[in-house]
Amino acid sequence: KIIIIDFGSQLTQLIARRVREHNVYCEIHPFNHIPEIDDTVKGIILSGSPCSVREVDAPMVDLKHLISKVPLLGVCYGAQLLADSLGGNVEASTTREYGRAILGKIEDNNSLFANIAVGTQTWMSHGDTITNLPSNARVIASTDSVEMAAFQFNDVEVYGIQFHPEVTHTTDGKTLLKNFLVGICGCAQSWTSDSFVETSVAEMKEQLGDDKVVLGLSGGVDSSVAAMLIHKAIGKNLYCIFVDNGLLRKNEFEEVLESYKGLGLNVKGVNAKDKFYEALKGLTDPELKRKAIGKTFIEVFDDEAHQIQDVKWLAQGTIYPDIIESVSVKGPSATIKSHHNVGGLPDYMKLKIVEPLKLLFKDGVREVGAAMEMPTAILSRHPFPGPGLGIRILGDITAEKVRILQEVDYFFIQGLKDAGLYDGVWQAGSMLLPVQSVGVMGDERTYESVVALRAVTSVDGMTADWAHLPYEFLADVSNKIINNVKGVNRVVYDISSKPPATIEWE
Ligand code: XMP
Repeated sequence: KIIIIDFGSQLTQLIARRVREHNVYCEIHPFNHIPEIDDTVKGIILSGSPCSVREVDAPMVDLKHLISKVPLLGVCYGAQLLADSLGGNVEASTTREYGRAILGKIEDNNSLFANIAVGTQTWMSHGDTITNLPSNARVIASTDSVEMAAFQFNDVEVYGIQFHPEVTHTTDGKTLLKNFLVGICGCAQSWTSDSFVETSVAEMKEQLGDDKVVLGLSGGVDSSVAAMLIHKAIGKNLYCIFVDNGLLRKNEFEEVLESYKGLGLNVKGVNAKDKFYEALKGLTDPELKRKAIGKTFIEVFDDEAHQIQDVKWLAQGTIYPDIIESVSVKGPSATIKSHHNVGGLPDYMKLKIVEPLKLLFKDGVREVGAAMEMPTAILSRHPFPGPGLGIRILGDITAEKVRILQEVDYFFIQGLKDAGLYDGVWQAGSMLLPVQSVGVMGDERTYESVVALRAVTSVDGMTADWAHLPYEFLADVSNKIINNVKGVNRVVYDISSKPPATIEWE
């Protein structure tokens, strides 16, 4: 495996995903918590950072200890740290070093640049520049303005690059990473979805034996793929519970239940709509609504789980980004999530936890699902918040408002699918606003609800841009909604990016 040492860059997870695209397993560890570098570690990558090595409290690692063990690649801050700590010099740069830059010079026959030609485009983003290399290092690539764009030590396999190979603007970034992983570190490229399925099923067979496992399905990608993996390992001993909280999309409960049954899963659908509506009655504060939904879910789930005799394990669809220890180098890390994933079960259930996806990123989860031949309708689903339409109906929730929003949402989502726009959007949904606006229908004035449509493009939901959907499409959806959904007379489209706006309205 490869160890990626995180100094707090927003791009660290992207480096990890790129490494995995080469079928090489990697782990991210914070700079102040590095695991032992044993024989399983084939190489180390040092990430970028929002910090400067010139700051007194800049994040540091014991490089002398690391470089003697395995090949090492420093990216951006990582490269500057190598230069700075091993005898070179880093200063604030005088020329602009953001954005695209062309490598005008590359050392002949350099292993890191194998199959990469002079003139290749890279992407830079740094305010510091390396002005002097350590005496035992040499420049291996330069741009017009950055002489030490890449360097290598003469006596050890240690490389530094000022540019970011993980972003797509670095045209040969993929090749460079492959050169490092395969050519320099000797990684086998054997970590594939098929091999993941095979090993994790074998491990769970061993770990779970004849024990019974309970899992809450949500209709989303993670819990579905987790269920399939466990099902492969223990079959009918996996008891899935799918709760209708009355806040799902139109027809979703029935459709998803059918598709789960089609996959051979042992799944029980529980209609608990009324319980949820009762718990939500009169609540308008978003956090109170979230709490009420979470608490009711646990009560319903707990009741159901107790009906399974001798259940020993609780399975969860936790994924890698949920467990990566986040580094906080400058204030709170951008990756902290507060409201996600309903917070566990009551203590008295005392179940052991099994989390078969905890080493995977979202794209990896989808690939593993595909390797198990799960339907794309499940795998390509947009993310949907646990509290569902409960946080998309602003203000208090009633069954009638849910009905209205389900209809609206149906025209929007079905419209996206019919127009071939669904897969290009990261997440889409509709919000029922707590305002009435005036309209005319025929000769009459109406005074009815306003709905907002929201569609975003994103990589991980942490930042997002509003999706630039075609006007004709928006016009068509708006017409369909106003003509078909009683109670709605105005449709608006949300053109805010995140930050500063969030994806959800509550
Ligand atoms: P925001 O609104 O914070 O949303 O930009 C980012 C992502 O998180 C989802 N989200 C939630 N998911 N419970 C969840 O399980 C919640 O309470 C919740 N709030 C937001 C949101 O749908 C988006 O994918």
